[in-house]
Amino acid sequence: MKFSLKHTDPQSKARVGEITTDHGTIATPIFMPVGTAGTVKAIHQRELHQDIQAEIILGNTYHLYLRPGLDIIEQAGGLHKFNGWDKPILTDSGGYQVYSLSGNRKITEEGVQFVSHIDGSKHLFTPENVMDIQRTIGADIMMAFDECAPYPCEYKYAKNSMEMTHRWLKRCCDRFDQTEGKYGYSQTLFPIVQGSVYKDLRKKSAETIASFEREGNAIGGLSVGEPAEEMYATTDLVCDILPKDKPRYLMGVGTPANILECIALGIDMFDCVMPTRNARNGMIFTTQGILNMRNAKWQADFTPIDAELGGYASTHYSKAYLRHLVVSKEILGAQIATLQNLSFYLWLVQQAREHILAGDFVQWKDRILPVLMQRL
Ligand code: GUN
Repeated sequence: MKFSLKHTDPQSKARVGEITTDHGTIATPIFMPVGTAGTVKAIHQRELHQDIQAEIILGNTYHLYLRPGLDIIEQAGGLHKFNGWDKPILTDSGGYQVYSLSGNRKITEEGVQFVSHIDGSKHLFTPENVMDIQRTIGADIMMAFDECAPYPCEYKYAKNSMEMTHRWLKRCCDRFDQTEGKYGYSQTLFPIVQGSVYKDLRKKSAETIASFEREGNAIGGLSVGEPAEEMYATTDLVCDILPKDKPRYLMGVGTPANILECIALGIDMFDCVMPTRNARNGMIFTTQGILNMRNAKWQADFTPIDAELGGYASTHYSKAYLRHLVVSKEILGAQIATLQNLSFYLWLVQQAREHILAGDFVQWKDRILPVLMQRL
């Protein structure tokens, strides 16, 4: 993987760059649609590629390991071959899902013992086997195995958890460096900064993570219920410590406002279930504001979903038709809503890149955010 920084905004810490992987190039700042089980829910790979122009998608170690399982993915020749997506893939390590999905789990120095949310079977994730699993999945960007501390979290818990995440990182790096990709292309490993909302812990974690000198770095443990101001303050502090010449990935974030504010702080990569999950609940992001499709207001509104955004779903279907589909729980409602929301998120980061290059990013951000975040 290669990262080249193209431009830094003189008025903020926003940057435009380019990540090059063996599966293609990603313009940053970027939003990565979440494809937990090897599919971005309700969307074809062709739509992701052609309509939304997604450049990278996420997969999840926890889900893919449990189902379909590593044997099937390896027999297919890796996740790209299995799901027909030949652009870059990033896999999360399971260091988050194991805590949020598996009710029954035990964290020790060795790793995390957990019970599958699918069939109740018992499993153990360790830093080593999570590297092996991501080698088998074949992600272009693999994530280190970490513990995402809950919020709120006592200082002592946050400190111990962060220190264990650092020890796990050493084990992840050792295993990663001793092994090779299985499918003939290269993979890279991003470590994850933790430390909850404690400034001294975040500083220590960012310094430790930077000292591993990997090709990119991530910030975890945010967007877990803390106020937005805490998220921004932590992101700012960590970005100032992480190296400038490597991509910075803020995990699990966020709303359009969170994304633009964190781009201004120097973040290059984002992922979040919000556009896809909220689409399936009838919440639609548009260039004019946020629409709740269940609202009777849209019943006879035959204007396009989002004429300004352009693209097939946004211009071809009316708000009234989408409302009908959503209220009737039709599958096509989830498909159109997902296309709209992902198109919007990819438009947002593309606009951010253009405005950073044009030199008016901060003015544009401050002007557009009240419009984008208003509820219509
Ligand atoms: N996704 C959102 N936050 C986190 C985190 O802290 N760790 C991991 N592994 N994934 C995340």
